Amino acid sequence: MSDQFISIYQSGEEQLLEKAVKDGAETMWDRKAAQKTPCGFGEKGVCCRICAMGPCRVSPVAGKGAQKGICGATADVIVARNYARMVAAGTAAHSDHARDIAHILHMASRDGNYKVRDEKKLMSLAKEWGVNTENRDIYEIAHEVAEIALNEFGKPFGTLKFLERAPELRQKVWEDLQIKPRAIDREIATILHSTHVGCTGDAESLVHMSMRTSLADGWGGSMIGTEFSDIIFGTPVPRETEANLGVLDEKQVNIILHGHEPSLSEMIVMASLDPEMQKLAKEVGAEGINLAGMCCTGNEVTMRHGVKIAGNFYQQEMAILTGAVEAIIVDVQCIFPALAKLSDCYHTKFITTSPKAKITGATHIEFHEDNAMESAKNIVKEAIENFKNRKNEKVFIPEIKSNAVVGYSVEAVIKQLDKVVNPHIDPMGTVKPLADVIKAGVLRGAVGIVGCNNPKSKHDYSHIEIMKKLIANDVIVVTTGCAAQAAAKAGLLTKDARKLAGQGLATVCELVDIPPVLHMGSCVDISRILTIVGEVAKHLGIDNSDLPVAGIAPEWMSEKAVAIATYVISSGIDTFLGITPPVTGSDEVVDILTNRVENMTGAKFFIEEDPHALADKVLGRIEEKRQKLGI
Ligand code: SF4
Ligand code: FE2
Repeated sequence: MSDQFISIYQSGEEQLLEKAVKDGAETMWDRKAAQKTPCGFGEKGVCCRICAMGPCRVSPVAGKGAQKGICGATADVIVARNYARMVAAGTAAHSDHARDIAHILHMASRDGNYKVRDEKKLMSLAKEWGVNTENRDIYEIAHEVAEIALNEFGKPFGTLKFLERAPELRQKVWEDLQIKPRAIDREIATILHSTHVGCTGDAESLVHMSMRTSLADGWGGSMIGTEFSDIIFGTPVPRETEANLGVLDEKQVNIILHGHEPSLSEMIVMASLDPEMQKLAKEVGAEGINLAGMCCTGNEVTMRHGVKIAGNFYQQEMAILTGAVEAIIVDVQCIFPALAKLSDCYHTKFITTSPKAKITGATHIEFHEDNAMESAKNIVKEAIENFKNRKNEKVFIPEIKSNAVVGYSVEAVIKQLDKVVNPHIDPMGTVKPLADVIKAGVLRGAVGIVGCNNPKSKHDYSHIEIMKKLIANDVIVVTTGCAAQAAAKAGLLTKDARKLAGQGLATVCELVDIPPVLHMGSCVDISRILTIVGEVAKHLGIDNSDLPVAGIAPEWMSEKAVAIATYVISSGIDTFLGITPPVTGSDEVVDILTNRVENMTGAKFFIEEDPHALADKVLGRIEEKRQKLGI
């Protein structure tokens, strides 16, 4: 194995943590230690504080201790209720993000800050949704399409439009189970209502409702987030970038973009290229402005502009500990409130921008979409002016970074696949070549590896170990979110990483000219994975659940991840979790999620904390599916 792959787990973390001690800076590890042993009731999901008669905590052990809350809720009900509320919060986060993007398309104009960059995608969506496109201005069409999307959040009748994109067999499963989500907000409101004290008192019903709500995320909010971001900012194409803290540059003004929505980060990218800003940077003695992304906002801007990746979720504190960051600019989701205090140890400005995510101790510069460029320039200016406050004796940038190729949207994947199509025999622009190699067994299957970092697991270790094992066994990996950034840092998003792939996958990568692990974007872009799986299933005339595919969240931590995992299961795709969710206090809920749900959706949860054992289970399940299919 080449050196490049040996350096996978070296990201200067140890040195930075030593530096933190020296600098008197507090990190998540200090706070984790202060937590001592985690609350056993919370860990098992049996703590309820839904009403003021409680809080109640019931014993997860049958026949021992309190078996019911004051209202009579059993461990099964309490666990299922807590699970349902996690799904609701996760769905709300992705969908509220999407709503803002749809509003942006609604305000887009030819001479405004936000434009239509992918007309083809807009026109095809307009057609899909029955919008008249003849002799109409593209912006008129855009506004109508945006209005339809905005109505998906609160329409009084009908189910979500994007559900119709799924294979017919899958739509039938949803129909039969009665889990086709109606308006997105309605599903979130209904499940919050149903989990109020004195409402649903049945675990299976709560899981059932959770599935419907989660589908409003995957086939609703997330899909709107992806599609509309592509229309406004451009559909990603493969491009080269670099990843890890080594992308920070001592000689430049370093700005970290962290959070989730592309509306702000896109404008910051544009603002930083503005000659006026570049001039300002030179005036303060810097060689230029160096943008680097983190978490999903990092994925959004790297996919569309090749902006370098500073790291993933776990590295947000590390970035500040380098002492070389002038500003960390955030919008929503996955932002440690701890960054406020940590920034105080350095010259770093911690700038919050969204009224949805204000943080005590941060500098709040509100970002307004209607004067987006001006807002973005003000924010960049703050960072530039802060360069003079940098204390060189406090700077340490680990010299570690890797090359990566990012930006494999479904359209980009299909374009790569076209390389092996003989146009005299087969049509161009389809997933047929992918379906063919899966059917032939050259690829044993395809797996999506997604999600966060979690201090319960060694940073990035599970992501990378699982990816390596799967590609070595001829399973192609697609990845999003912080998992994708782990892959980028480990060098797995390079064509060179074919060396680590099995012979079948290596050959496919060679012919199609792709890395064995494909970066498909941010967490909302898991909708891209749903789309490509659905297309392959449609092509073969089968359901998603028949395919040798799986989803894995090796180091997940957020409620969004619970919503994702639930919609992946509900979409017929097995989901493997590397961190045990807080459901083990109820045998009933565990049995539903890891067993009975398969009879409903054709897929189920697997929980396995050991990454190697997890990868083995995935491979086993893939072969099982192949056998059933007779391929
Ligand atoms: Fe206790 Fe029931 Fe109230 Fe929960 S809803 S706190 S179990 S009384
Ligand atoms: Fe994310």
